[in-house]
Amino acid sequence: MRRCLVAGNWKMHMTVAETESFIVRFLPLVGAPNAEVVLFPPFTSLDCAGRLLRETNVGLGAQDVYFESKGAYTGAVSPGMLVACGCRYVLVGHSERRHVFGDGNDVVRRKLDAAVVGGLDPILCVGETIAERRGGQTNTVLETQLEAGLGGLSEAALARVVIAYEPVWAIGTGETATPEQAQEASAWIREWVGRRHGRAAEKVRILYGGSVKLDNARSLLALPDVDGSLVGGASLDPDGFAAIAAAAEA
Ligand code: PGA
Repeated sequence: MRRCLVAGNWKMHMTVAETESFIVRFLPLVGAPNAEVVLFPPFTSLDCAGRLLRETNVGLGAQDVYFESKGAYTGAVSPGMLVACGCRYVLVGHSERRHVFGDGNDVVRRKLDAAVVGGLDPILCVGETIAERRGGQTNTVLETQLEAGLGGLSEAALARVVIAYEPVWAIGTGETATPEQAQEASAWIREWVGRRHGRAAEKVRILYGGSVKLDNARSLLALPDVDGSLVGGASLDPDGFAAIAAAAEA
């Protein structure tokens, strides 16, 4: 049985004070959810969020990580620093990291490996652009990203990984994949895991992300191969995000 995971990726939003007021409002609203609920604040809010979420039912993750453990890497944050703030999860290969900051598949893999070694559970994000979808390249792109991210990974490491299918054309655009598109891609990803890693396919959690809102969350979360959602914009409002978390339980 795969436990549903609802992740809120705040991106470059929320000061420390805003993080604190969000969490104070959110915790009683979300209560003791059946689904696993995890917040991904910006680096500057992780320490504050980690303190407020300690011993609650809501988990903590970071939006990115660097693959070295320490040293002269200006601006970078290591896995150990994230664990020390209370993070369990980290996003790797989010489309904004790939497309705005130029993280290539090789860098994504180094981050994923460093996350696992450093004690974090990576959420590997994969997804095609609209041109790639229109060109019939969706599965090829997914395969390249999956192979680079997860090919040859040990069974123990793979057991720590969550995969997020996030079509680039659906992120922050208000355009969501239809349930059919989300199911088709997620089932294809699970098949790929089955081909490369056997039984792990039944256990790996696959999230959908891209303009998830309360009104489409229920139908996306009900899909057989979708085990949760990665929510951007709609996770910035505590009431709205708590309602999405509640939809995950239904
Ligand atoms: P969005 O972002 O929900 O605002 O489309 C999703 C994501 O980037 O993870």
